[in-house]
Amino acid sequence: MPGPEQIRDSQRQAWAGLAAGWAKWDSVIMDQLGPVGAAIMDGLGVVDGRRHLDIASGTGEPGLSIARRWPAGHVVLTDLVPEMLDVAARRARAQGIANIDTTVCGADELPFDGDSFDSVSVRFGYMFFPDLARATAEFARVLKPGGRLCSSVWIEPERNPWTATAMRAIATEVVLPTPAPDAPGMFRCAAPGRVSALYADVGLSDIAEWDVPVHLVTESPDQYWQVVSEHVAPVVAALRQVDQPARERIRARAVADVRAFKANGVVRVPGLARCIVGTAP
Ligand SMILES: C[S@@+](CC[C@H](N)C(=O)[O-])C[C@H]1O[C@@H](n2cnc3c(N)ncnc32)[C@H](O)[C@@H]1O
Repeated sequence: MPGPEQIRDSQRQAWAGLAAGWAKWDSVIMDQLGPVGAAIMDGLGVVDGRRHLDIASGTGEPGLSIARRWPAGHVVLTDLVPEMLDVAARRARAQGIANIDTTVCGADELPFDGDSFDSVSVRFGYMFFPDLARATAEFARVLKPGGRLCSSVWIEPERNPWTATAMRAIATEVVLPTPAPDAPGMFRCAAPGRVSALYADVGLSDIAEWDVPVHLVTESPDQYWQVVSEHVAPVVAALRQVDQPARERIRARAVADVRAFKANGVVRVPGLARCIVGTAP
């Protein structure tokens, strides 16, 4: 298992390379993940005029939605990767959202004072942190007493055909290594109770988990392939290992398989996320 600095370096490199794909397919990705952002906002119960911290904001969500909904509040968007936060800042400008700022930092070394935020969100970031316990301790440290932390993670691949369809096609050409236990990756936090236990260890209370269904909706099977092959981290990483003919066979297989999800003129592939909320002492 690589050390924390190696994990940070490889995450930095991977996400810097994915920023353009996330920007290109912004509306498709945001439509897919929107229900999870909405669930996180419900879990946080944020009220206007407060200070909110969004961790691993990537291209800005759910931080920007929180800033839009609570215009008298202030939201700090953070991420390890400046290229992702640049897209977030562009999205904020395009949407006329001014009550935000951005800070490049890792989740387990937050450059903020203790007790300085009323709430913290982490949408699909937990799985990539070098040290989950240390990151959770940081979230608890910066939260004011009674402030809430709400995060989301992916449930196992079988419940997420939106990535599993592409990964199954890739597996026909590439031997995908079994990830080391607790190695960073999309499904690292899939086990029920995994994130809740981290919350409990740092003294959060009123911890609850619930599942949130999502759908990746594209205009066609071909567009499904473009979207997932240009922004989904494990798909992009695996495709780097193959030559052009193999890539074309994988594409053809994924496009054929995803037709099973075609209905009413679109391709609607399901997935399932889990949200976890807790309250600081
Ligand atoms: C799947 S994206 C989620 C982006 C956004 N929250 C969303 O839901 O649309 C994961 C993000 O985690 C960030 N990340 C990876 N390792 C990190 C770390 N150690 N600390 C903070 N952010 C990290 C990546 O740069 C990437 O932007």
